[in-house]
Amino acid sequence: MNHSATNRNTFTITTPLYYVNDLPHIGSAYTTMAADAIARFERLRGKSVLLITGTDEHGQKIQRTAESNGLEPQAHCDKVAAGFDTLWHKLNIQYDRFSRTTSPRHAAIVKEFFLRVWDKGDIYLGQQKGWYCVSCEEFKEERDLLEGHRCSLHPNKEAEWRDEQNYFFALSKYQSQLEALFQERPDFIQPASRRNEVLNFVGQGLQDFSISRVNLDWGFPVPVDPNHTIYVWFDALLGYVTALLDPDSEPTLENALKKWWPINLHLIGKDILRFHAVYWPAMLMSAGIPVPHRIFGHGFLTKDGQKMGKSLGNTVDPVELVDRYGTDAIRYYFLKEIEFGKDGDFNETRFIDIVNADLANDLGNLLNRTLRMVQKYCGALVPDVEIQNIPSDHPLKEIGLGLSDRVAKAYSSLAFSEACKEIFTLVRASNKFIDDSAPWSLYKQGNLPAVGLVLYTVLESVRLSAYLLSPIIPNISTDIYQQLGFAIDFNEKTHINDRAMYNTHANWGTLRVHQQLGQPKPVFARLEQG
Ligand code: MSP
Repeated sequence: MNHSATNRNTFTITTPLYYVNDLPHIGSAYTTMAADAIARFERLRGKSVLLITGTDEHGQKIQRTAESNGLEPQAHCDKVAAGFDTLWHKLNIQYDRFSRTTSPRHAAIVKEFFLRVWDKGDIYLGQQKGWYCVSCEEFKEERDLLEGHRCSLHPNKEAEWRDEQNYFFALSKYQSQLEALFQERPDFIQPASRRNEVLNFVGQGLQDFSISRVNLDWGFPVPVDPNHTIYVWFDALLGYVTALLDPDSEPTLENALKKWWPINLHLIGKDILRFHAVYWPAMLMSAGIPVPHRIFGHGFLTKDGQKMGKSLGNTVDPVELVDRYGTDAIRYYFLKEIEFGKDGDFNETRFIDIVNADLANDLGNLLNRTLRMVQKYCGALVPDVEIQNIPSDHPLKEIGLGLSDRVAKAYSSLAFSEACKEIFTLVRASNKFIDDSAPWSLYKQGNLPAVGLVLYTVLESVRLSAYLLSPIIPNISTDIYQQLGFAIDFNEKTHINDRAMYNTHANWGTLRVHQQLGQPKPVFARLEQG
C-alpha cells in the first residue's frame, strides 16, 4: 500500500461531486464548507493544497429532472452546475478544481479506467434483478425498504423494480483485500462509528454490483458494448481522478495520478459511505492504483428530524441565508455547532444566538474595547512590553502557548467544534482577564506599564485566536488582523500559504511592540432575526 502522501507537502481533498438534480441546499453546502476549512488550514500550515469539488451529471435521476424541466440534459446540467459555482463563491469556498462528469476529458479517463478493469477480468455480463431507488441511484435490499417499496432516505419516492442484463464488477473478489486494508489502516474510514458500519457490511460478504444500465441514454457508453451505459456511480467516483489533471495535460490516468494522488481526504456524507469506502477502493485495486488515505463520513443536517434533501423538498436555501446573514456567520455556526460526524438540526433562533454570543460579543467586542483602550491609554501602537519577560503562568499566555497544537490536532481530525471550543477558551479568558485586571483603574493609578501589559496580552490573544479561526471565518479574521496592523488578507493564498509564517503566527507572543494599529471598527454586526 502506498503511504507516500503522508510525507509529501501536497494535500488533496475532495467534496462529493454533487448531483445536479436541483440547486444546492444547505446540506451540500455543509460538506463544502468543511472541506474548504480543512483546505485553508492545510494552506496555513504551508501545504500545497488541491481542493476538488464538482458536479455529478449523468444517470437516470438527472435525465428525468431535465425532462421534467423541459430541457436537454446538458443544458439542464450547465444551468445547475453554474448555480453550484455561484454558491461556492458566495460562501467563500476556495476550490482549486471543479470537476464536471460530462466533460470530454472525463470521458477519456472513464474509458481508460473501464478498460483496465476489463482487461483485469473483473467485469462480466449478468442478470440484475432488484428494487432501484432512482434518487439514491442504487439498488436496495428488499429488507431495507419501507412499506410500499419506499426508500428510507426518500420516503416520498417508490423504488422501481428492475430485471435486466447488466455488466457487473467483481467486487466479491476483493473481499479479503478490503478486509486487510481496513485492519492495516484503522484510520482509513472515520469516524469510528462509520468504520464499524462498513466492517459490518463487508463482514456479511460482498456481492458483485452492476456497473452498466440499459434503456438509459444519459451517460457514457460502455466501451466494449455501446448498448449499455456506464452506471452513474462508476463514472462519478472517477470524477475525482479527472479533477487531478492539469488543465493543459492529456487526459490519461498516468497524467492524472502524477502529482496529487493518492487523495488525502474524501469528505462525504454518511449516505454515500459504501460507495467510497468499499466500491471505490475495490475499483482502484482492480485497476492497480493505490487507494486514498482517508474517508470521513459526516452526519446529516436535519429539519424537524428528517434528512434535509432535494428529493424531499425540505431544504434551507443557503443563498438566502448568506444574503441575510453573511458568509462567516454561516460557516461558523455549522462548523462550531454541529459535532462533525453527528447529525445536527438547523434552527434559526439558535443560529442567531450563537453567532451573536461568540462572534459579536466575545470576540468582536473584545477586540473593539481593547483597541479603544489602547488608543486612549497608549496611543495607537501595540503597547511596549518585554514580551520575553511575560511569565509562562500568565493567565492568557498559559492558554495561548499550547493552543495551536491543540487546535491543529482538532482540525486534523475534523473536530471543528473542538477547535472552536479551544480557541474560545482563550477569547473568554481574555474577556475575564480584562474585567479582573481593570486597566482603566490601573491607568487612573498611573500604573502605565501594567496597563500596557494587560492590553498587550489581550491583543495578542485576539490575534492568535483570529489566526487559528481563519479557516472558518476568514473575513472576520482578516478584519481583526488588519485592525491589529497587519497587511494580511486570509483570503489571499499568497499571503498565508507559508510554513515559516505558521511557525511564527501560530505561537503566542508574535505581535510586535510599537506596531501601528488600525482604526477600531466592529468586526461583526449583531444579527437580528430576519
Ligand atoms: N452525486 C453523489 C456523490 C458522488 S461523489 C463521486 C451524491 N450527490 S448528492 O448531491 O446527493 O449528495 C452530495 C453530498 O451531500 C453527500 O455527501 C450527502 O451526504 C450530502 N448531503 C445531502 N443532503 C445532506 C444533508 N441533509 N445533510 C448533510 N449532508 C447532506 O450523493
